[in-house]
Amino acid sequence: MQKDLQRLLRDPNLILPEVQTLISNIASQATELNMPCYLVGGVVRDLLLNLPTHDSDIDFVFEGDAIKFGETLVNKYGGKLTHHYKFHTAIWHLPSTFNLQLETLDLITARKESYEHAGALPTVTPSNIEEDLRRRDFPINAMAIRMDGDHFGELLDPLNGEADLEKKLIRVLHDKSFLDDPTRIFRAIRYETRYSFNLEPSTLNLINAESLSVLSKLSGERIRNELDLILDEEKASQIILRVANLGLLSYIHKSIPEFKEDYSDFLDMDSRLDIPADRRTMGYMLWFIDLSEEEIFSICNRLDFSNELTLAVWSAAQLKWSLQHLTESKPSVWTYALEKLPLLSIYAVYLISRENSLLSYISIWRHVKAHTTGDDLKAQGLTPGPRFREILSALRTAWLDGVLTSKTEEEEMLKKLIAENQ
Ligand code: CTP
Repeated sequence: MQKDLQRLLRDPNLILPEVQTLISNIASQATELNMPCYLVGGVVRDLLLNLPTHDSDIDFVFEGDAIKFGETLVNKYGGKLTHHYKFHTAIWHLPSTFNLQLETLDLITARKESYEHAGALPTVTPSNIEEDLRRRDFPINAMAIRMDGDHFGELLDPLNGEADLEKKLIRVLHDKSFLDDPTRIFRAIRYETRYSFNLEPSTLNLINAESLSVLSKLSGERIRNELDLILDEEKASQIILRVANLGLLSYIHKSIPEFKEDYSDFLDMDSRLDIPADRRTMGYMLWFIDLSEEEIFSICNRLDFSNELTLAVWSAAQLKWSLQHLTESKPSVWTYALEKLPLLSIYAVYLISRENSLLSYISIWRHVKAHTTGDDLKAQGLTPGPRFREILSALRTAWLDGVLTSKTEEEEMLKKLIAENQ
């Protein structure tokens, strides 16, 4: 196994060569300081599954002070350190000269955790790697690979994570795991669907009224974080379906619906359109689009959405509802109605309705403007005032609705409008 892991750690298809260099620099530094150093968590799991780790976070655990270790890295290589003294962890913001897609590294002091009450954030005490692995969620996430010195490539698997990977099982480490941290219920379902694994039967039984009632008391922010992570997944709609079938949704909020299977393809944005892609915003819009205004505000409030996200979700639902009244309208009516809404909300409604006017607005109408500007009006001797905007908007309306088709026609129309004004 040891040889195998060394091979996996050097496989450029699994870890990008530039990330390998970074990892080996950290390992050398740890060797120099005589500090046992381990790769842990998702990277180890994915390496053992022979899956690329290119999009994963890289987490290091040290038997020793990770914050001090981080400071030596900053002194040697640059970048910045964020300290979390309470948790004995640091985040190394990598220097931009490294030119990696990866921007940060988590540096963790091996620690044990205790929970003051169910669902609380843990109290931590420095400890050794084995204890550190025991505080984690599932055996498949509780393996470490030692990286320093001659130990390079040694697997530590005290909780038999490798066996669970082989059996394709998600299993908690102890019966209170979901009570200590109910976000693990979401995590279990996420991994189960992502890897086509199964929840081990007694773990499945622990998703029960007791753990769900602790889950229902979690802050909006903690629940939203989990939903964000679900929406990032390729099989997001399947995960939400499983979350719904296991009865979680009603513990978050009584009005959260299932995610419509038909909408799942729309989570991947069409990059040809000039709209900033945001899979999470798109996900929430599609998820809640058929709810009433009251339900939307109540859910957004429970999940502690930003004003911007709430506006996007509400706008999509409003627009979907008002389509029936807009269908036969002129382009100018569409344009003035849509201009107040976030572009991504309009695009979401286009995806599910295929209403062509929405696409015309996104790609053409919103860019249509009259040639004439405010300065031109001033040059014609008009004094700035509300009438300015009326004239410019009359010209724009005429362009949008095909009444104007050339600059000369616009000049004619402008003359008439000015004459009416005098
Ligand atoms: N972890 C945990 N309990 C949690 C969250 C995290 O035990 N509620 C531990 C797990 O060991 C996990 C590690 O912290 O592997 C890192 O967490 P995270 O970055 O969220 O997950 P990854 O394992 O990296 O997996 P993913 O591919 O989903 O990012």
